[in-house]
Amino acid sequence: MVLTGADVAAHSTRESLWMIIHGKVYDLTEFCSSHPGGERVLLKYAGKDATEEYDPIHPPGTIEEALTPDKHLGDVDLSTLAAEQKPAEQPAAKAPSGDAPLTLGACLNLDDIERAAEKLLKPKAWAYYRSAADDEKTHDWNRASFYSVRLRPRVMRDVTHVDLTTTLLGCKSSLPIFVSPAAMGRLAHPDGEKCLARVAATQEIPYMVSANASVGFEELAALAQPGQTLFYQLYVNRDRQKSEDILKRVAKAGYKAICVTVDAPVAGKRERDERAKLDEDAATDPNMQKAVKSAGPDAPDAPQDEPSQGIAQALGSYVDATLSWTDLAWVRRASGGLPLIVKGIQTAEDAALAAHHGANAIILSNHGGRQCEGAPSSLETLLEIRKFEPRVLDKVEVWCDGGFRRGTDVLKALALGARAIGIGRPFMYSLAFGDAGVSKVATILRDELAQNTRLLGATKLSEVVPAMVNARELEDNLYDGPYESPVKTILARL
Ligand code: HEM
Ligand SMILES: Cc1cc2nc3c(=O)[nH]c(=O)nc-3n(C[C@H](O)[C@H](O)[C@H](O)COP(=O)(O)O)c2cc1C
Repeated sequence: MVLTGADVAAHSTRESLWMIIHGKVYDLTEFCSSHPGGERVLLKYAGKDATEEYDPIHPPGTIEEALTPDKHLGDVDLSTLAAEQKPAEQPAAKAPSGDAPLTLGACLNLDDIERAAEKLLKPKAWAYYRSAADDEKTHDWNRASFYSVRLRPRVMRDVTHVDLTTTLLGCKSSLPIFVSPAAMGRLAHPDGEKCLARVAATQEIPYMVSANASVGFEELAALAQPGQTLFYQLYVNRDRQKSEDILKRVAKAGYKAICVTVDAPVAGKRERDERAKLDEDAATDPNMQKAVKSAGPDAPDAPQDEPSQGIAQALGSYVDATLSWTDLAWVRRASGGLPLIVKGIQTAEDAALAAHHGANAIILSNHGGRQCEGAPSSLETLLEIRKFEPRVLDKVEVWCDGGFRRGTDVLKALALGARAIGIGRPFMYSLAFGDAGVSKVATILRDELAQNTRLLGATKLSEVVPAMVNARELEDNLYDGPYESPVKTILARL
């Protein structure tokens, strides 16, 4: 059956809720109350084409899994849709303005890519990627930390050749760099995370796929080249069975390790993200008002009383806040024994506990400043571990992320004992340019790393040693209270 836009628009209440996704009309009346993303969003797009909103959030196959075939009522005649209901072109570029570089060729460093993305991405995508917690001081501090550390370059060494290769948990990488897990790639580009997977393969660096990726993890694994390293990042679901099922599928799909993110039992307060949603909600939306009215005065999610949820809040609603150290053994078992990475370590105590409870690698991370405002930068946590729990560095691989934008930032952390560095936002921003953008980020980092490793007087990563940095300024400000290690022994993992 072919329906018109007017047919669909007539079903825009909780009593009868139709929606258009990819030119198909669905009856969501029954499904509405059990939608994992909440009723409110469905009511907002009731009677409309919601493809643009739907796509970045849901992996392919969601509709087929969530709805029975009889809920597909037919196709819509696109020519009958009102202009504002027609699917927007992807990606929508804003008119060039300001002095941001708008071609990839003009981007010389990762900050240029960020400024270009601010101009090119849709405001909601930019707000979600860029947002950080509270006053964004931890976000800023991640960057500022590097400025307080000096390098101590050695000279008169033969640095004609440089080798940047390394291994992460035994997996080869052409650089000491991996793609940090970040959700919702399709907010920036129709291919979303596929761009990250393809380029990680050609650049020969590991890609850690987010639990909230907007392309299914199996679809990404199917794109993998022989020998490519994909890690899977897990948020443990309150419904543990769901996580167990995912872990089985992840192992079957060929992922090389599981990374449990532990710094997000609840989402941080990200006001840019919330504001972007508020701006949207504030727009006159008679359809929403009508839908809410039809739900009666007791509507649980009446918008006038409820603070607007940002994307982060909506995405994080299934995360299990009861997670504890002993659950790591369960994660490993459920994955069939894959190596385990714990992401979000912010103190020496937790580094020791993660190692004690069987992590093979830990990621010192404050989630790019998106979670606990006031948390230390990963460089500071690394120094804290060197001070209080140096044995951790011998027992597990220590990786870092947060604010790394220059080859020299990476070298500072490597010199202090980190094995690999995750890059988050720059890769997400670069999606504004598709595969070429992602390649550019990796190439810039590769070139800066090669150049500065040589300027430091090293020809391979094992020659980048603690004596090559002066971190005195940061060390002076480290935690100095009483310290008692929470664990007596740490089993050897390496
Ligand atoms: C045919 C229409 C839709 C269907 C069948 C549907 C189905 C689903 C399903 C099954 C999930 C859970 C995904 C998972 O756990 O991996 C989900 C999550 C979500 N949906 Fe929808 N959805 C629809 C439309 C929409 C629309 C129009 C929006 C508006 C933006 C939306 C927003 C969300 C959000 C924010 C989540 C994340 C919730 C969370 O993970 O906590 N959905 N949806
Ligand atoms: C848009 C965005 C989405 C993210 N999503 C996730 C996620 O799904 N899981 C996770 O463990 N970390 C997530 N992170 C945190 C990153 O993995 C990483 O810790 C952080 O981005 C590093 O900081 P940087 O962006 O300054 O490089 C996300 C970060 C951003 C910017």
